[in-house]
Amino acid sequence: MDLDKVLSLISDDLVLVEAELKKNLRCDVSLISKVGEYVLMSGGKRLRPVLLLLSSKLCGYRGNRQISLASVLEFIHTATLLHDDVVDNAELRRGNTSANSLWGNEASVLVGDYMYAKSFSVMVEHGDIRILDILSSATTRMAEGEVLQLIKTGDIDATEEDYINIIIKKTAVLLSAACQAGAILGGVAKKEEDAMSSFGMNLGIAFQLIDDSLDYISQNEGFGKAIGADLHEGKMTLPLIHMLRSTEDSERNEVIKLVQKEKKVEEPDLKRVLELINKYKGIEYTVNKADSYIKEAKNNLEIFKDSEYRQALFTLCDFVLKRET
Ligand code: IPE
Ligand code: IPE
Ligand code: MG
Ligand code: MG
Repeated sequence: MDLDKVLSLISDDLVLVEAELKKNLRCDVSLISKVGEYVLMSGGKRLRPVLLLLSSKLCGYRGNRQISLASVLEFIHTATLLHDDVVDNAELRRGNTSANSLWGNEASVLVGDYMYAKSFSVMVEHGDIRILDILSSATTRMAEGEVLQLIKTGDIDATEEDYINIIIKKTAVLLSAACQAGAILGGVAKKEEDAMSSFGMNLGIAFQLIDDSLDYISQNEGFGKAIGADLHEGKMTLPLIHMLRSTEDSERNEVIKLVQKEKKVEEPDLKRVLELINKYKGIEYTVNKADSYIKEAKNNLEIFKDSEYRQALFTLCDFVLKRET
C-alpha cells in the first residue's frame, strides 16, 4: 500500500478534522486565531490525527467521535511546537518563518497555552474519562521530556539511555496516546489496547530518531526546519552522542568546544561535526536503531488480523523510516 492509498482510507475524516481544527481556533481574541491559524494551516503532516483515525478503524470503531479527538491531538502537538520553537530559538517551522520570529516569544507561549487549554475543554466535552486520563498523562510526560532535555543541554556526558528517555517522553508518548485512544474508541480488549499503545510508542521513538538524523543531513526543503539546529542549541541527540563516545580525545575536545559554544555554530563547524559523525557512523547507528524500533512496532500489530487498516499502519511505519519531510 502506498501513502496516498493510506490517506484515501481516511480522507473523509481528515476533511472533518480540518474543519474541527478551524472551529476550535475561533476566538474573540484575534491574535489567538491569527497565530493559531498561521501555524496550524501551514502544512503539518497530521501524523497524530492519522494515527488515531487508523487505530480506531483497525479496532473496529465506526462512529464519529474520532473527529474531535483527532483535532485535540493536533492541537496538543501544535501547542508543543509553539513552545518548543521558543525554547529552541527556532526561526523556521514547516518551511515558514516560525511564529516566535513573527510575533515574538510571548505570543507563541500564550497561544500555545490557549491550545493546551482548549484541548482539555474539547476532551471533557468528548466525555471519555479513560481517554482524558491517557491524554492528560501524555501531556504531563511531554512537559517532563522537554524539561529533561533542557537539563541535558550541552551535557557532553549525556548517554544513549538519557536520550531515549527524553525522546520517549517528549515525542513518543503522544503517538502512543493517539493509538491507544483509537483502540479505546474501538472498545477492544486490554491486550489489543496495550498492543496499540506499544505500537505508537515504538513508532514514536523511531520517528524522533529519524528527525534527529534529518536535523544533521536533510537535503529536502520539505523538512521545513534549519539544518544543524540541534547542534546549535547544544542538543544531545543520538548521532552526536554516538560520535562522542566513539571518538578520540583530540576530536572529542574539538566537538565539546562547539557544543558548548554560546555563539551561533557556523557552517564550517557544522561541516566538521558532520564529518566526525560520519567517520564514526553516527547517522547509520541512529537509523539502524530507528529500524529496530520500527520492526518492533510492526510486531505489535501481529495480534490483529490482516486488514487494509493494518496494512495502512505498516505503510506508515515504512514512511517514518524513509521520510525526508
Ligand atoms: C515535529 O513533529 C516535532 C517532532 C516530534 C520531531 P512533526 O514532524 O510531526 O511535525 P509536523 O506536524 O509534520 O510539522
Ligand atoms: C520535538 O523535538 C519536541 C516536541 C515534541 C515538540 P525537536 O525540538 O527535535 O522538534 P523540532 O525538530 O523542533 O521539530
Ligand atoms: Mg525544536
Ligand atoms: Mg528536531
